[in-house]
Amino acid sequence: MTRHFLRDDDLNHLEQLEILDLAEKLKADRYREKPLAGPQTVAVIFDKSSTRTRVSFAVGIADLGGNPLIISTANSQLGGKETASDTARVLERQVAAIVWRTYGQAGLEEMALNTTVPVINALSDDFHPCQLLADLLTIREHRGALKGLTIAFLGDGSDNMVHSYLLAGATAGMHVRIAFPSEFEPLPGVVVDAERIAATTGGSITLLTDPVEAVTGVDVVVTDTWVSMGKEEEKAHRVAALRDYQVTTELMAHAKADALFLHCLPADRGYEVAADVIDGPQSVIWDEAENRLHAQKALMVWLLQQN
Ligand code: CP
Ligand code: NVA
Repeated sequence: MTRHFLRDDDLNHLEQLEILDLAEKLKADRYREKPLAGPQTVAVIFDKSSTRTRVSFAVGIADLGGNPLIISTANSQLGGKETASDTARVLERQVAAIVWRTYGQAGLEEMALNTTVPVINALSDDFHPCQLLADLLTIREHRGALKGLTIAFLGDGSDNMVHSYLLAGATAGMHVRIAFPSEFEPLPGVVVDAERIAATTGGSITLLTDPVEAVTGVDVVVTDTWVSMGKEEEKAHRVAALRDYQVTTELMAHAKADALFLHCLPADRGYEVAADVIDGPQSVIWDEAENRLHAQKALMVWLLQQN
């Protein structure tokens, strides 16, 4: 069975650890692994905009000895004109792996079911698992270990990053707190899955509405845009509904004195986070953005070894 990475819980605790360890090694010695030498090609498909994901996959695939083929659905047959399953069958004859940023999770599942090469989720409406590998790598670099740390997310609880924090945080054995207004709740099935995983790793899941309660005493504070790609028409309503969840210096003062601040970027300063927090001394956003490269390289090396 081909291993894919469609959601964070496609990796168990030990597998996640193995990939983070490899990412650390690749960060220290960038060109040590060449599994794509040939060069073999990896297709990287975008249905939505991207800066970090596009650059880090293109650079990472080249670092691994391969050839990145960046495809925009706007000028390909995928996306209304051809199914994911037919696309998968065409691509697998020519590429070593498929990386896809899309809308529905179902498309990724259809792609994965119909190909023998690994499929990697580069963000969907429901999950952003590659970002979580980078976030966990960043937190580990600054704190030494992940197990037992407490992380608080404030804002849009229905966000793809929230679902990934729930699953990947639980897998790492972290205590994950999510604070959101009741109309923006996480997918109930993902919460159940995260709770089941947390029970095996010593982590925990806590859903809250009060932002102060959520950040009190935590090791890490995170947030994300209030207006994810595809939700642009809801902006006015979201800004009004989420106003009290902005990460401010006053809120950060309730976390541990040395708490880290992370944000996957792009950020809207003055909305989900105040400029003095994201640009302040507790913010590790530039390490986090760089770590997309190292984490995704490790993921690709690992997936290519499994298949
Ligand atoms: N964080 C992230 O995925 O950024 P991009 O949308 O620029 O790829
Ligand atoms: N939640 C955001 C993440 C962007 C990297 C979005 O989906 O637009």
